[in-house]
Amino acid sequence: MKKIDIAKTMFSDNCHLFKCPVCGNEMNIADSQSLVCINRHSFDLSRQGYVNLLLKANKSKYDKDMLESRNIISKSGFFDPMLEQISSLVLRQISPNPSSSAFVLDAGCGEGSHLSRILSMTRNKSRAKLQAVGIDISKEGIRIAARDNIEIIWCVADLAKLPFKDKQFDVILNVLSPASYTEFDRVLKDTGILIKVVPESGYLIQLRNIFFDRTDKEAYSNEKVIKLFTENFHLIENQRLSYEVELDETSLYHLLNMTPLTWNVDKEKMQKVNNMRISKITADFRILCGNKF
Ligand SMILES: C[S@@+](CC[C@H](N)C(=O)[O-])C[C@H]1O[C@@H](n2cnc3c(N)ncnc32)[C@H](O)[C@@H]1O
Repeated sequence: MKKIDIAKTMFSDNCHLFKCPVCGNEMNIADSQSLVCINRHSFDLSRQGYVNLLLKANKSKYDKDMLESRNIISKSGFFDPMLEQISSLVLRQISPNPSSSAFVLDAGCGEGSHLSRILSMTRNKSRAKLQAVGIDISKEGIRIAARDNIEIIWCVADLAKLPFKDKQFDVILNVLSPASYTEFDRVLKDTGILIKVVPESGYLIQLRNIFFDRTDKEAYSNEKVIKLFTENFHLIENQRLSYEVELDETSLYHLLNMTPLTWNVDKEKMQKVNNMRISKITADFRILCGNKF
């Protein structure tokens, strides 16, 4: 079966999730392999099996090269301890509901590897059927995501204007990405949970120490982000997770290529990092989980 036919079946089975990004009406799958609303606003499924629901093209700073490096680092297991923790939170949420389907949205999924990994970590551990949906504003990210996993619904979309009906999701994930609490609150079921991951002060500290030596960026604080979360959602879990990962030369290259930390760094400092041959890097995250007030 072709990718687009698999996607068509999946979109067709789950089109109740969607609302038209133009007029807000219900959407259906038309014969022509498009999501279409009653007012004939139409969005084609791509050959790769994703749909672009943005109304105007977006130029993301996360380009293909950067996202491919992120994909390689992610597949090397760099994020796995964090993804294990998220998976247990997801399982705790969906397991009491064995007979039905549970819907998980990753808002700002990038190249999609976290959602794919979480799906494989939770598979066979829950009796509920889990349908995952990943959205990102970067078309390049969603292309990689659709290339790597055809079981997930992938959409190019803006998380500040989600193309979904109210109260559709049991879990929303928001990992190292911007948030839109109004939209998350709207599309989350009343019993649903939001899981947000933010970097902690030790995250990639070895790079931060070199890039931002004696500047106000050297010490990272996520205090404001956490405060905003607790103003919008009732905090039920607040965990810090810190670990070290061994790096070889290739992984260091992809790590430097995947992180926005290097965006404004001059050549001299990049050279300094390369010369230092860093062999271990710190991952340090804060995992927040909340439900609706
Ligand atoms: C640091 S990356 C994290 C990606 C992925 N969650 C991960 O951890 O690898 C931030 C992501 O947020 C996405 N993003 C930024 N603004 C967005 C928006 N308004 N709507 C959807 N995605 C957005 C970017 O395109 C990028 O993929």
